[in-house]
Amino acid sequence: MADAAFEAYTTVMTPDQIHLLRRSYAKLEPHASIAALAFYRRLFELAPQVRPLFKDDIESQATKLMDMIGLAVSLTDRPESLEGDLRDLGARHLDYGAEDAHYAVVGAAILDMLAEVLGDEFTPATKAAWLEFYGLVSGKMLEGAAAARVDRANSGSEPSKAPVPGK
Ligand code: HEM
Repeated sequence: MADAAFEAYTTVMTPDQIHLLRRSYAKLEPHASIAALAFYRRLFELAPQVRPLFKDDIESQATKLMDMIGLAVSLTDRPESLEGDLRDLGARHLDYGAEDAHYAVVGAAILDMLAEVLGDEFTPATKAAWLEFYGLVSGKMLEGAAAARVDRANSGSEPSKAPVPGK
């Protein structure tokens, strides 16, 4: 898993890919709640075992996820500005019960949702741009999770009970 995270860390999106990503996100945005619901439906089809991890109502959870994706998309040309936030988000996900292997399933559910909502506009090039982007975002989150695991093992402490924004 460390290798996958490292690979994502060193990946840089091309300007064409950033353009495709933003264009497709702009098409998705007006349908954000449909897109988010399609995402969760697909995620729970692919991985029913993660359903109990989601305690918030899916509607508000969906809004947070789409906002986060929107922010990440808007910052693709300078990923370093998001780096700390994504690492912190990854560390918080340890407390949510997210495992490294779940990231691939979440990625697959995002791609399937995009195919469903964007239809013909989800071209192979657009798909490749989203794959690259998801690798970047999840790579940073996985790095944050790995670092938090090491910190916790070293300090021998319980998982943090730091307050979660918006909770
Ligand atoms: C790129 C991937 C992901 C992004 C951008 C993302 C984003 C978010 C955001 C923004 C939140 C809101 C809480 C916070 O800010 O701490 C959240 C919560 C959560 N996420 Fe993720 N997430 C991702 C991957 C995953 C994965 C792989 C899982 C594993 C199943 C997961 C499970 C959860 C759970 C269980 C919660 C808490 C929900 C609740 O208490 O109802 N996420 N996620």
